[in-house]
Amino acid sequence: MSARKRLGILLSGRGSNFVAIADAISGGKLPGAEIAVVISNKADAPGLAAARERGLNAVAIEAGGRKRAEHDAAIIACLREHSVDLICLAGYMRLLSPEFVSSFPQRILNIHPSLLPAFPGLDAQRQSLAYGVKVAGCTVHFVDEQLDHGVIILQKTVPVVDTDDEHTLAARILEQEHVAYAEAIARVLSNKYRIVGRRYLPVSET
Ligand code: GAR
Repeated sequence: MSARKRLGILLSGRGSNFVAIADAISGGKLPGAEIAVVISNKADAPGLAAARERGLNAVAIEAGGRKRAEHDAAIIACLREHSVDLICLAGYMRLLSPEFVSSFPQRILNIHPSLLPAFPGLDAQRQSLAYGVKVAGCTVHFVDEQLDHGVIILQKTVPVVDTDDEHTLAARILEQEHVAYAEAIARVLSNKYRIVGRRYLPVSET
């Protein structure tokens, strides 16, 4: 049996997606994975405290006025130190430098609260409502050099209802995010999918 793949989680705030991943692992839904380290660019991130409470390695690496590449180099060193196989951005609200992305090709995942390529960037739920879409959702994708752009692993949809404000819509999407992230990680770790152009497709058994 092969060793469990080591996840490195990057977050900046609440950390509910991290908690959903940790719960999926402790609930046996991701038998091929373990969390090696949780890193935050904010020392006071509630997600970091949640990681500590769970007895996980939880590390704050703040930018502290450093240039992006220098800050990222410190994060990359920490990920390497913990022998991370797969990096999961879970509400990590900083752009990654090109050096970071190229250090872990096709090994960085992100979750975004819209159906990409619609509404990349900040406040995706507010953008969705303002545009007037009737269906919203979330996307788990590989990270490439462009913002919210890499190959899509999976998406989940939710309806937008007439009485929604950005908070009710965000809450409905978040419920799906928590399911989607663990499913996407399982898919990536299964080695049963491959990237074909921009598509993420099951490898044929034949
Ligand atoms: C989530 O909704 C996630 O999709 C979003 O931030 C929230 C983090 O929540 N990420 C982005 O908007 C990235 N562009 P969490 O800290 O509770 O996981």
